[in-house]
Amino acid sequence: MRIAVIGLGYIGLPTAIMFASAGHEVVGLEIREDIVKKLNSGRAHIAEPEVEERLRRAVEEGKLRATTNPEDIKGADAFIICVQTPLKDGKVDLSYLENAVRTVAGVIERGALVIIESTVPPGTTLRMARLIEELTGLKVGQDFHMAHAPERVMPGRIFHELVYNSRIIGGVTPESAKRAEILYHSFVRGEILLTDATTAEMVKLMENTFRDVNIALANEFALLAHQYGVNVIEAIRLANTHPRVSIHWPGIGVGGHCLPKDPYLLLSGAREDFGLIRKAREINEDMPLFAKDLLFDAFKEAGVPREDAIVVVLGLAYKGDSDDTRNSPALAFIEAIEGDVADVRTYDPFVGGTHESVEKAVKGADAIVIATDHSIFRSLNWEQLGRLMRTRILVDGRHVVKDPPKGFVFRGIGRGDV
Ligand SMILES: NC(=O)c1ccc[n+]([C@@H]2O[C@H](COP(=O)([O-])OP(=O)(O)OC[C@H]3O[C@@H](n4cnc5c(N)ncnc54)[C@H](O)[C@@H]3O)[C@@H](O)[C@H]2O)c1
Repeated sequence: MRIAVIGLGYIGLPTAIMFASAGHEVVGLEIREDIVKKLNSGRAHIAEPEVEERLRRAVEEGKLRATTNPEDIKGADAFIICVQTPLKDGKVDLSYLENAVRTVAGVIERGALVIIESTVPPGTTLRMARLIEELTGLKVGQDFHMAHAPERVMPGRIFHELVYNSRIIGGVTPESAKRAEILYHSFVRGEILLTDATTAEMVKLMENTFRDVNIALANEFALLAHQYGVNVIEAIRLANTHPRVSIHWPGIGVGGHCLPKDPYLLLSGAREDFGLIRKAREINEDMPLFAKDLLFDAFKEAGVPREDAIVVVLGLAYKGDSDDTRNSPALAFIEAIEGDVADVRTYDPFVGGTHESVEKAVKGADAIVIATDHSIFRSLNWEQLGRLMRTRILVDGRHVVKDPPKGFVFRGIGRGDV
């Protein structure tokens, strides 16, 4: 088949590569010229294991090319839309999606299949189908087909998960869902479950909202543990031995591309306000501020005037062993303290532009704040690092440290016991 993938970011590029390696002829449409140039020379612009080799192979075999020209996707058998659906000033911004749909309407021919992979508020796929109908005079379910096929992949494991995850496909009509299922079967080995488009949209948003609300609950338990003098990490470990309990882990906040925005997408079209989901978001968004309170409390105990303090943030990525800093709570934390302290230094072995070693970063500093649970942070020798510091304060935002190191003023999220 001739497949057009629209938007070649974290989701679109690996998806285009998978369709190309399954033997389809794939053209990727991207508005950013720099990305198109890079991809056509076989170099990837996203950091993801295997992406570079797989891309080079697909380009060399002539199965994948990128373009900025919508004419190059004219008459494709399938259009797969993978553009961003961000929040702008707290509101869902569907302008990228709508532009992509308008582009498709300009080049679609009878019999084509249009798929929205982007995460969208419930009802969006139906609205976009109507938009194509209005712009082209074609009828959905008759002259063209349309479905929502949301993504469940986790950055860092995208190529494995694209193949082996189970997948929900929601058709605007049952025939649309079936056609999309056949297309995805060309590389998906996981189960494909069919439903209608609006249910599929809601399923995707419910999955991420479930995780966000559960992390908020763990964070609230952490705040309570500070009131009761309890180590919440130990308490959660014990509670999770219950056969029907599985509490998530608390921390300095929730980041990444999806979790901080998807609950708002879920709420965006609702006729009334729903307290639980919104409150959970607020709790998670406030966690960097709670980490700030812990740090400032430690300054007091150590007798460090905050305006003189040099603070080292360990980890900028939003999750461990990743270089992804999108919506990272580490950045929110830095923004929260920057004006109050003398200097903020950073060290993240995965992220460019930070100190080249942890030792260099902590030399002469007053406090270390762990904001990401990179594996290597677990084996740091705190007492050795402490000897390089001016004052020894350690704030653990990710329960990386089990026992507070000797000689440090220690604080940790959920560590009401210290
Ligand atoms: N990144 C993830 O881990 C993940 C996981 C599941 C779902 N999603 C969802 O997938 C969607 C895409 O996310 P992403 O992380 O790939 O975004 P991204 O920002 O990495 O990529 C989107 C790309 O689309 C391009 N683009 C925008 N408008 C365009 C247009 N009209 N024509 C052509 N190209 C256009 C942009 O330039 C960009 O390169 C979002 O809705 C996101 O919520 C993402």
